[in-house]
Amino acid sequence: MSKIKKIGVLTSGGDAPGMNAAIRAVTRTAIFNNMEVVGIRHGYHGMIYKHFTHLKVYSVSDVLAKGGTILKTARSQEFMTAEGRKQAYDNLKEEGIDAVVVIGGDGSLTGARVFCDEYYDIPFIGIPGTIDNDIYGTDYTIGYDTAQNTVVEAVDKIRDTASSHNRLFFIEVMGRDAGFIALKTGIACGAEAILIPEVEGQVENLQNFLEKGNKRKKSSNIIIVAEGEKSGGAFAIAEKVKEDFKEYSVRVSILGHIQRGGAPSAFDRVSASTLGYEAVQALLDDQKSVMVGFHNGEIDLVPFRKVIKIKKKVDPAQLEMADVLSI
Ligand code: F6P
Repeated sequence: MSKIKKIGVLTSGGDAPGMNAAIRAVTRTAIFNNMEVVGIRHGYHGMIYKHFTHLKVYSVSDVLAKGGTILKTARSQEFMTAEGRKQAYDNLKEEGIDAVVVIGGDGSLTGARVFCDEYYDIPFIGIPGTIDNDIYGTDYTIGYDTAQNTVVEAVDKIRDTASSHNRLFFIEVMGRDAGFIALKTGIACGAEAILIPEVEGQVENLQNFLEKGNKRKKSSNIIIVAEGEKSGGAFAIAEKVKEDFKEYSVRVSILGHIQRGGAPSAFDRVSASTLGYEAVQALLDDQKSVMVGFHNGEIDLVPFRKVIKIKKKVDPAQLEMADVLSI
């Protein structure tokens, strides 16, 4: 019998499609194993202000297919302070919560790590949830697949109008300071160029990309720009191109928060369900301060320490491939 009787579950940071599937899986797996479940609303903010709600099996009915997070989310500045974390700890103790599952991105898992370094007697397990896929220790994060599909659908539509007008489009996608969304969607949409923060000097090289397209008299050029790209974003790059290459009819599209919404894909639903289930199994196995991730299709438990410290890398070979395929 596990000594854990009551667990808390929260979502934190940017929401991601599939978070509800993970909440559902955590809740039902915990109840199946005779634990009580407390939903902590509004992420760490709710931990500090006791936004606690008891979750039953039926509380998570009909949420599997919904985007967003039924527990709401937030980025808590107060949890970054020692006083905030002390208050959160006292509240967890008062509520009798003896373990927590955190679903979120880099910042959320960093918060979990700092908390666990200060307070040892409440184990935390992390689930990677962010559309950015920028978390070390897992091949993919909850929401990444759905966000990619959303981007691909939007870019395909933009391609139709771009070709009709012989236009050059700069399309900015999310990803914070990482280029995973840009790289994969650029390949999926046959982008003429993909500009990501991990690679320097790409903007200086734009002329080559454009000449490549010109040679074949392409009817459209799509350049995917990751929002973290370091030359000032899609608008700034487009302005420069307009000045230097007057022959192009240039347009910019910032896809924005549409990338975070929508029903999760089948892939995200299955991944999130698996991660939620495995997070509770990890608690039953007396694990703590680890994130549940996927490595080569298998479940892997990765210490928070590593998740936080190591930067996940994009595969430069894929950028080369995209370049070849778009000649
Ligand atoms: O981390 C998810 C993400 O959507 C990033 O891609 C983006 O940079 C950021 O969150 C946007 O945050 P906000 O919704 O607070 O503007």
